[in-house]
Amino acid sequence: MWRRESVPQFRDTCRCMSDKGQSKLITNVDDIERVAVLGAGTMGHGIAQVAAMAGFTVVMRDLEEGFLESAMKKIAANLDKGVARGKVSAEDRDATLSRLSTSTSVATACEGAHLVIEAVPESIDLKRETFAAVIETAHPGAVLATNTSSLSIAQIAESIPSPERVVGMHFFNPVHIMKLVEVVKHEGSSEAVVQCARDIAAKLGKTGITVKDTPGFASSRLGLVIGLEAMRMFEQGVASAEDIDTAMKLGYGHPMGPLELTDLVGLDVRLSIANYLTETVSAGFTPPQVLKDLVAAGKLGKKSGEGFYVWKDGKRQS
Ligand SMILES: NC(=O)c1ccc[n+]([C@@H]2O[C@H](COP(=O)([O-])OP(=O)(O)OC[C@H]3O[C@@H](n4cnc5c(N)ncnc54)[C@H](O)[C@@H]3O)[C@@H](O)[C@H]2O)c1
Repeated sequence: MWRRESVPQFRDTCRCMSDKGQSKLITNVDDIERVAVLGAGTMGHGIAQVAAMAGFTVVMRDLEEGFLESAMKKIAANLDKGVARGKVSAEDRDATLSRLSTSTSVATACEGAHLVIEAVPESIDLKRETFAAVIETAHPGAVLATNTSSLSIAQIAESIPSPERVVGMHFFNPVHIMKLVEVVKHEGSSEAVVQCARDIAAKLGKTGITVKDTPGFASSRLGLVIGLEAMRMFEQGVASAEDIDTAMKLGYGHPMGPLELTDLVGLDVRLSIANYLTETVSAGFTPPQVLKDLVAAGKLGKKSGEGFYVWKDGKRQS
């Protein structure tokens, strides 16, 4: 239950309630102070970092304290690197860290939140369950954003009684560096909430594009075509992983090859997206055997230490 006495920002959030006492949607980015980020993995920790850097008060939630500690360490290391390179001042680093806290409780993390961004694993059931839990304590007009790479925003939005405040906000990896956010609107999304999501993206220093709610949106659908074909070529022995990647880097000017990018994204994440696009778009997205085998062996890419390449301390070894 939403307990007003336990929400320090209640007076502020009252600004967003209509005369009838019904919740009014938050549609002005300036009304957003508290942000909850659910899932502190590859994407969640990056989203929490950029939100705190932009001045929001951020609570990150994951299932275990250990995951949250590791996420906080990654954020601190990113910020330290920024300071060493002269891109972030020491004061901004300290202020960013002071705006971040963590919790293993979804209720606590979302309490009074004006914006919730979920970055839990790519499963429609999990995302629906997550939003159903979020609305118990989040501000009743909160913007609810999902970082899904491919799933139907409408199906996720159906899990709560006010689907108009649900949008996709699809960030890219690594979040503190990549400039794009796909803002995905489903048929029932409020236009004002979609605009607010674009304003939030701008406040985070990103460029937002608006995309219709279709499987894989504008980016994952195209990116996966190249990624899956590169895996098939690797499987068929067309060239080594490194040479396939070099072909796209030097031949097409891609900043990173498709197999290295798969390691960065996470092989499990790419497999989930491929399975979903196979069901919803075309059999052309059927995952190659090598991808299924590597995931079954726990070789998930950079985050597990091995995928198409070997990784140590976040650096590619071979
Ligand atoms: N990896 C990428 O490059 C990338 C890019 C854009 C979008 N995405 C999307 O972002 C989402 C997360 O992907 P990721 O790569 O960060 O995954 P990840 O596996 O690195 O992290 C997911 C985290 O969520 C946690 N988690 C699981 N259940 C949870 C729950 N109920 N509440 C809170 N936390 C929970 C896990 O413990 C884990 O720490 C997915 O929808 C994915 O498709 C990923």
